[in-house]
Amino acid sequence: VSAPGAVGLLGGGVIGGGWAARFLLAGSDVRVYDPDPEAERKLGEILELARRALAQLSAVPLPREGTLTVVGTAAAAVEGVELVQESAPERAELKRALLAEACAAAAPDVLIASSTSGLRPTALGAEMGRPERFLVAHPFNPVYLLPLVELCGGERTAPETIERARELYSSLGMAPLVVRKEIDGFVADRLLEALWREALWLVNDGVATAAEIDDAIRLAAGLRWSFMGTFLTYRIAGGEAGMRHFMAQFGPALKWPWTKLMDVPDLTDELLDAIVEQSDEQAGGRSVRELERLRDDCLVSVLQALRARDVGAGAVLARHERELAGSATAQVLANGDDLSRPLALHAATVAADWVDYNGHAHESRYLQVFGDASDALFAYLGLDAEYRAAGSYFTVESHLSHLREALLDDRLSVTTQVLDFDARRLQVFHSLSREADGTLLATAEQLFLHVDTVDRRAAPAAAAVLARVQRIAEAHAALPRPERAGRAIAIPR
Ligand SMILES: NC(=O)c1ccc[n+]([C@@H]2O[C@H](COP(=O)([O-])OP(=O)(O)OC[C@H]3O[C@@H](n4cnc5c(N)ncnc54)[C@H](O)[C@@H]3O)[C@@H](O)[C@H]2O)c1
Repeated sequence: VSAPGAVGLLGGGVIGGGWAARFLLAGSDVRVYDPDPEAERKLGEILELARRALAQLSAVPLPREGTLTVVGTAAAAVEGVELVQESAPERAELKRALLAEACAAAAPDVLIASSTSGLRPTALGAEMGRPERFLVAHPFNPVYLLPLVELCGGERTAPETIERARELYSSLGMAPLVVRKEIDGFVADRLLEALWREALWLVNDGVATAAEIDDAIRLAAGLRWSFMGTFLTYRIAGGEAGMRHFMAQFGPALKWPWTKLMDVPDLTDELLDAIVEQSDEQAGGRSVRELERLRDDCLVSVLQALRARDVGAGAVLARHERELAGSATAQVLANGDDLSRPLALHAATVAADWVDYNGHAHESRYLQVFGDASDALFAYLGLDAEYRAAGSYFTVESHLSHLREALLDDRLSVTTQVLDFDARRLQVFHSLSREADGTLLATAEQLFLHVDTVDRRAAPAAAAVLARVQRIAEAHAALPRPERAGRAIAIPR
């Protein structure tokens, strides 16, 4: 997988900003055109949210971040890019003109996509010179965390355009859903709008408040939706008799006048006031940025839980992490490397589910971070997947010292000093610090045994690996011995 080298974004609001973050953190360079003089500040704030969320989400190293350039015209945004993603306001006239302008300025093979929530691509591309390369690619907010992107072609969209788009968005860790027929609102927004209409009626008729309606979703159906959706959930609800039984039992109710799907309540001042007031009450004085951080933290937790089960959006994440890990060329010791200091090979962020009842990272997480730092050291010594088929280092002893607390969201970095080695053994000393202020939080001294992974017995490391170990050990011999190295646990008297 590799993300596009450069993309052009038209519009840098909520969705354009989310796209900017998704592309930049996948390694693409991004050029944005947005007439709003505040655009650069807003983009920066969304990018900060995304960096924070992705640092928590995944331990797999992300590609080097792309560069962001804000430009003054649509034509400048599409210069030298592989994809143009339009996320301007949802007004058909504005979008048609903007897309036609971008299309005229872009090189002929550039893909052009609109983020529209529901406008049909045939109409949007009406004034475009080469509409065969145009499609709708409809994302979800926040674009940098949610994997779904609905792809919808118009009457003149070429099938290759859909295929190219499918590959391109997959390379960003997204899950494209190709809409089989051109239709207003595509699939997801038709479903969401049905629910939204019903919710407005419930408020209008005084049946439930905004907060109660949200509870009705988040305490039950919403939990199921994130891994099974509607159909698979209802199949289970049919019990042993399954889907046919479920349809027989609940199908007839669909004909009863329970919903007002076709009707929208009049958006009178009273209704609007009631909704705004109830919504303010729910927010309880929290700013949009605070709510966005809460939303992202919750999404990270749900995605990680689903990743462990390999279902739904978690399966998309797991697949993307495997691709990233496979294509990442791990850094192996090279000739010019500076070995005059301990090695800095690993960093991590304290995630919400690391924190225990004492309000700091659980002790097991320190070993996890040190274990990941040891893995980074092994990769640096040249132990890749091919090597591990025959040999690997196993940990045989660890001594952790907890010096200060690692707190939620702390960015941690580990440095590693090689203390000793022979053909089969390797002894290292890790130091874990908080990046923000350099405070030393914990240390770990570890002993590894090199093992033949076929017959599971100790065996000498390969000559190339030993040569690298020796180079590092000789350089590190000049460093002061860490104060805590070789310590036993004891109560000082
Ligand atoms: N908000 C959502 O949840 C969501 C989800 C999916 C898709 N969308 C779609 O994404 C698009 C953008 O929505 P949004 O929520 O980001 O709106 P927004 O108002 O946050 O952003 C729109 C941006 O476009 C800029 N803009 C105005 N005129 C422009 C022009 N001529 N050229 C370039 N930029 C221009 C505005 O300054 C603004 O920054 C819409 O088509 C919307 O339907 C929105």
